[in-house]
Amino acid sequence: MTQAYRNQQKEIEHVQEFIDRFRQVGSKAAQVQSRIKTLEKLVRIEKPRTPRKPFKFSFPQPPRSNQKVIELTKVGQAYGAKRIYKDLDLTIERGDRMVLVGPNGAGKSTLLKILAGHLEIDAGKREPGYATKIGYYSQHRSEALNDDNTVLEEVLAACSTLREEEARSILGSFLFRRNDVEKRCNVLSGGEKSRLNLVKFLVDPPNLLLMDEPTTHLDILSIDSLVQALKNYEGTLVFISHDVHFIRNLAETTLHVNNGTVTRYTGGYDYFIEKSGLNDDRSAVTA
Ligand SMILES: Nc1ncnc2c1ncn2[C@@H]1O[C@H](COP(=O)(O)OP(=O)(O)OP(=O)(O)O)[C@@H](O)[C@H]1O
Ligand SMILES: [Mg+2]
Repeated sequence: MTQAYRNQQKEIEHVQEFIDRFRQVGSKAAQVQSRIKTLEKLVRIEKPRTPRKPFKFSFPQPPRSNQKVIELTKVGQAYGAKRIYKDLDLTIERGDRMVLVGPNGAGKSTLLKILAGHLEIDAGKREPGYATKIGYYSQHRSEALNDDNTVLEEVLAACSTLREEEARSILGSFLFRRNDVEKRCNVLSGGEKSRLNLVKFLVDPPNLLLMDEPTTHLDILSIDSLVQALKNYEGTLVFISHDVHFIRNLAETTLHVNNGTVTRYTGGYDYFIEKSGLNDDRSAVTA
């Protein structure tokens, strides 16, 4: 594609040179006219976009939390008459990289909201560690953005050590092109807000990152950028994803949520599949 574009550009230049050189020469008038026609009729190959490059930037690390990041004890939660959890115990420790899997409607998002403190529990205790600083990311919710800031300003404001070119490059990796970074936050689409929030979490990371389906508004390249950033992240990560590639890359512990029970597997996705014997029933896993 790139080569075809280059060849055509050479050809156009060549013809154009002829036109420019002989435009004023009466005896060449017919040839010049015919070449002008050729150029007009030419179906132009679109200039290939330069591929986005993965950024070279080591994201800042969050302040260290206590060993015990958060603990749920005998937690109960229901939506009206619909009980989701009863007597749920869960401890998350520093450095855990945990994925929540399970069928649709199992209660994964509910559990993440309980951990985030976004949902009232009707029984039990939720105790974050003393130094735990929580960031909760969900496609359905965005942290407040400063409407008057441009996208670029918003990211720069989140991290005082970030240089402008680094911010542009990170934003580029998350699908904000050159002009997009000058947009004001109040005109952004839902997807753009979501991606901007993601970038802000990466440049100013909390030490407990709770993410509900973070790859939803991303393409393959930006998913890879996110994987790289999260691999480098030294805080504690609990996430929900239906993307097996994403899970395989990041999860070291798997929590299977099903019918109000939460089963812990101390290994990544493949370990979980092997131990749980659920490989024949994908709907029970990541449907
Ligand atoms: N605000 C609410 N009011 C009433 N019921 C709710 C509410 N939020 C969720 N539910 C119900 O609680 C159950 C668990 O929902 P939850 O969103 O936690 O599931 P999930 O595992 O995240 O599912 P999915 O994979 O589809 O995202 C579902 O049956 C859902 O319909
Ligand atoms: Mg959910």
